[in-house]
Amino acid sequence: MIRFFTIVILWVFVVGRALAGEGMWIPILLEKYNIDEMQSKGFQLTAEDIFSLNQSSMKDAVMVFGGGCTGSMISAEGLLITNHHCGYSVIQSHSSVTNDYLKDGFWAYSKEEELVNPNLQVRFLKRMEDVTSRVLHGVSDDMARSHRANLIRRNMDKIVTEATEGTHYTASVESFYHGNQYFLFVNEVFRDVRLVGAPPSSIGKYGGDTDNWMWPRHSGDFALFRVYADSNNQPADYSPGNVPYQPAWHFPISTAGVKEGDFTMVFGYPGSTSQYVPSFHLQMLTETVYPALIDLRTAKLNIMNHYMDNDALVRIQYASKNASLSNAWKRWKGEIRGLGILDAVAVKQMFEADFTQWVEAHPERYNRYGNIIDLYRDTYESYIDYRLARDFMMELIGRRGLETIRFAGSFEKLFSMYGTENFTKEQIDAERDKLEIEINNHFKDFSLSIDREITPAAMHKYRKSVPQQFHGNIFKDIDAKYKGDVNAFMTNLFSTTIFTDENIVRQFNSSLSKRQLRQVQNDPALAFFRQLRDVYYNDILPGFNRLNQTLDSLNRLYMQGIMAFDSTRVFYPDANFTLRVAYGRVGGYLARDAVQYQYQTTLDGIFEKFATGNPDYAIPLRLQELYHQRDYGNYAVNGTVPVCFVATNHTTGGNSGSPVLNGRGELIGVNFDRAWEGVMSDLMFNPEQCRNISVDIRYALFIIDKFAGASYLLEELNLVP
Ligand code: ARG
Ligand code: GLU
Repeated sequence: MIRFFTIVILWVFVVGRALAGEGMWIPILLEKYNIDEMQSKGFQLTAEDIFSLNQSSMKDAVMVFGGGCTGSMISAEGLLITNHHCGYSVIQSHSSVTNDYLKDGFWAYSKEEELVNPNLQVRFLKRMEDVTSRVLHGVSDDMARSHRANLIRRNMDKIVTEATEGTHYTASVESFYHGNQYFLFVNEVFRDVRLVGAPPSSIGKYGGDTDNWMWPRHSGDFALFRVYADSNNQPADYSPGNVPYQPAWHFPISTAGVKEGDFTMVFGYPGSTSQYVPSFHLQMLTETVYPALIDLRTAKLNIMNHYMDNDALVRIQYASKNASLSNAWKRWKGEIRGLGILDAVAVKQMFEADFTQWVEAHPERYNRYGNIIDLYRDTYESYIDYRLARDFMMELIGRRGLETIRFAGSFEKLFSMYGTENFTKEQIDAERDKLEIEINNHFKDFSLSIDREITPAAMHKYRKSVPQQFHGNIFKDIDAKYKGDVNAFMTNLFSTTIFTDENIVRQFNSSLSKRQLRQVQNDPALAFFRQLRDVYYNDILPGFNRLNQTLDSLNRLYMQGIMAFDSTRVFYPDANFTLRVAYGRVGGYLARDAVQYQYQTTLDGIFEKFATGNPDYAIPLRLQELYHQRDYGNYAVNGTVPVCFVATNHTTGGNSGSPVLNGRGELIGVNFDRAWEGVMSDLMFNPEQCRNISVDIRYALFIIDKFAGASYLLEELNLVP
């Protein structure tokens, strides 16, 4: 009965208008599609206030932070707020066992104390523009696929060149609605971004991986940085003479708090979603790909956790690696569950049946979209294996898989250069310099004990989960010389390779003697890397790419078809790491039978969890003091301090660090997660259960002021009651 009920609701929802909260909207189209609805839900400003091409607007305060997060400007002096987990690896890079900023937090008590980060950048959007007709100029439907792609690429290059010529801006053209629309984005990138403040992980990552992706949540997941510019307020490389950047907009901060039903809006960079995929895609993920990857990562994480629990250095070295592995691992589990509850495959199948009926009702439609579902079915039938093999291979060579073997592989380029006459001594030396950095990075955060266990465990799983057609010669020696015993093979590999010995590798890279070179050429780790690489490039990638191209064309056509089929609905495009607006309302949810969650957590909850004794709920002494003395200053609300809240905004990875705004465009929180019951929103949104999680800005202020004593920072903020 319940199932039937959900199907009916979703049915209305998938084919009907987007319901509360769903959608990641294009900022320059708000005026056309969204502003009326936003205002009816409590937004008190205009579309022009959010995004204007002529005057300063909120968009001037929003940025891409680092490689995959969002951040926002909160002062006229370049102060920015993002998530602790977005700054995590930067904070880690300044840390050591004796000076552990991850563990103890870091606060600059003056601008001089701020920490410089050579590899950190932020990117502001200057303008965007629909360039569809220029991108598709000369392109026709019946063109050969490669011809079409080349033409589009050339058109895009031209647009980008024109947009950036004579400026210091960067630009890109991005595809929307699966190649049915294109926008140009012109950006300004700042390269001097300094660390200002970060709470200890026991606040910023309070609840650790126990609470990750979960509500009720109590993390103070925020960190502060400052953007610096040259004396003309323009981007510059780090220099002690740089001055704080003066943004065209920074967000006022509301101290009024939130309540159930309040309008909220999230302005940021959602990375990637797949809302319009056919049922076969969901089947592939939930039945094949996710289960195999979950199984593999469970093994990796168990091994890491074991060594991290027993060694303080390893705990720091693997903190970031572990967090990034466990993050998607837990989300995949939630997605499988969430899609199951929605009966998502059946919902999609019903939609596809309806769509097919609509297509078949008209010869014209049939001409255009006929067979598309059958074509999808055929394509996915072969695609599944390639996708699994490719994802698995990424887990071996990247993603904290076979670390020594990957590291050995990074010397391949040097070998290939050395063997031919085509490279100058300068080029080879440049490559050796790069490898020097690679050596530093690899060994700084490396545990041989962990790698020696993960490597054979991962290869066992590869053999078990990935179809034989992708085994190549990977297991040839293992079978021939070790009777199929992966462990014995790897034990031998680890005892003979040079790539586990930092001194030898360093010495090799600096002297590069002929004799050594020959010896290293035959190193077993390098040999194994080559087996994997050959399978990846010869057996996996060509088929994977070919099928992806087929899927790309089908997706482009299907998207057109869906939009024509349901021509009154306003469709939002899948996320593609471009700036978007999501809006909804503050509100709790029914998590499971009889369990109704409220929308706000408080400091009291932090101490309830502390009492369980779980080490993920450790609390810094200073916070314990404040709690015991009820020393909450101005931040007390009903005898406690608000910590996090949930709302119905449609967000995804990349939205971390996004400003969460109230109806007046004031900052009320910083987005950092989604609730586990709703993480399938990347594939299918359920308005009943999909919630984004934000740290309440009042908690951040409380931590900065009362916990860290960095109250001087508050002086540059624009606090509004
Ligand atoms: N789940 C959030 C995201 O996808 C937060 C991850 C960091 N926090 C953690 N406890 N691992 O990035
Ligand atoms: N923590 C995620 C991020 O890094 C946001 C959570 C989500 O996927 O919605 O972007």
